[in-house]
Formats: sequence, structure tokens, C-alpha cells
Amino acid sequence: MNYLEQIDLERLPKHIAVIMDGNGRWAQQRQMERVFGHKNGVQSVRETVEASAELGIEYLTLFAFSTENWSRPQFEVDALMSLLVETIEAEMPTMQKNNIRVLSIGDLQRIPEAARLKLQKCIADTANNTRLAVVLALSYSARWEICDAARRIAEDVTKGQINIQNIDNEVFSQYLTTHNIPDPDLLIRTSGELRLSNFLLWQLAYTELFFTDVKWPDFRKQDYYQAIVEFQKRERRFGK
Ligand code: IPE
Ligand code: IPE
Ligand code: MG
Repeated sequence: MNYLEQIDLERLPKHIAVIMDGNGRWAQQRQMERVFGHKNGVQSVRETVEASAELGIEYLTLFAFSTENWSRPQFEVDALMSLLVETIEAEMPTMQKNNIRVLSIGDLQRIPEAARLKLQKCIADTANNTRLAVVLALSYSARWEICDAARRIAEDVTKGQINIQNIDNEVFSQYLTTHNIPDPDLLIRTSGELRLSNFLLWQLAYTELFFTDVKWPDFRKQDYYQAIVEFQKRERRFGK
């Protein structure tokens, strides 16, 4: 089946978010260490970014590392951080050539300094690119983000900068790490898990959800197109 032909380019989702899951199981099935799965997931990231840029998707958010993932064995955390740095360095020329902007959401203070500096440089260097925004969710969890927003709103109330009566959806959204990013239209989770795992709980309120059994290292453009075709069959009502 050629899913690309079935995509209506006039009705593309503006923002697609992906929970890239299943790297560890993919490796274990091959009698390999989990980290082997993470390394093989990089090609899937490349394909998804490339497909997004080719189609004209405006925002692609990738859940790369959750707040809870800090509790994994230290060697796995270290391997994921090194992979992050290596991938950013290797992909920078392609990002620039293809006019892709990199953003991040999450608690960057927790990221080891070497990785954080590379990431911040990548964000700064691509800041003026206009084609596709790739949003990396790193050390991110929705409950962290919502608590952080609540704390900062409380501070601003104390300082008299906002009035309690004025706190509504819009004001609250402004305090989230996603404040200048539209809510996702489509969420994809790979590897057959049917849960959100603390990802974008506020922003996914009316997002269409697509789950696939394909594990992240096997995820290819066709799988991505399939999710978009499925999205275009849905009727979005937003409660109306
Ligand atoms: C997703 O794959 C990548 C990260 C969470 C960093 P997993 O590492 O969760 O792999 P599984 O789900 O254990 O197979
Ligand atoms: C969610 O996957 C986080 C990322 C993909 C980065 P997990 O593998 O950490 O989530 P659970 O443990 O299956 O809920
Ligand atoms: Mg997992």
C-alpha cells in the first residue's frame, strides 16, 4: 500500500507529536543491549524529520527523554545523553541546509552541561530557520511542566503582575514550555503501548491518537504516512 498517494496535502496536521517507544525491546529481540536499540532509533528520527519537511508539516515534537527516564540505569542515561550530542552534531548541517529549526521543551537544567551546551547552540544556530520546527522533548514530563507553570503563575500573582481572576486557558498555556507552539493535531506512539506516559497532558486535550505496534527503530516514512492517512479519516469535533 502506498500511503503517500493517499495523503491530502491540503489537510495536513500542522503539528505531529511522537512518543518514540520500543527501542529496548527491539534490541532485546535481537539479543542485543538496549542501547543498540537507541542507536538504531536515530535513523527513524532522520526519516520522520525528513518526511515532515518534505510534506510541509510545521511542527514535529519528539519525546526523546522523560523526567521518569532519569531513573533508568546510569549507563543507559549516559548512553542516551551521548547519543543526543552525537546526533545533534552530525545532523546540524542537514538541519541548516533544509531550513529546519530546533526547539526544546523540558527541564533543561537537569541535562548534563556538555549535552545542554550543544543543544543550546543548535537551538540558537537554527533560530532563524523557517521550514519545519523540530521540538525535542528532553527531561520532559507533563506533570513537571504543569507544576512549574503553577509555581510561576503563583509568583506573578504575588508580585501583582497577574490577577487571579484572569487565569484562564490562554494565560495558563502561556506559562507552559510549549507557549509559542500550537497544540498537536496528531499523536503517534510506537511499540504497541496504549498510554501517554506523562507526555503533553494539557496540550493533547483534543489531539487525535494513533498507536502502532511498530517499534521505533523499525519506524519508516511509510508508517508515518499511514498515521497521517488515518488522521485524515477522523472527524474532529472539539466537543461542538
Ligand atoms: C524509547 O524506547 C526510548 C526512550 C524512552 C528513551 P525504550 O527505551 O522505552 O524501549 P522499551 O520501551 O523499553 O522497549
Ligand atoms: C515514554 O516511554 C518516554 C519516551 C518515549 C521518551 P517510556 O518507555 O519511558 O514509558 P513507559 O515506561 O512505557 O510508560
Ligand atoms: Mg519504553
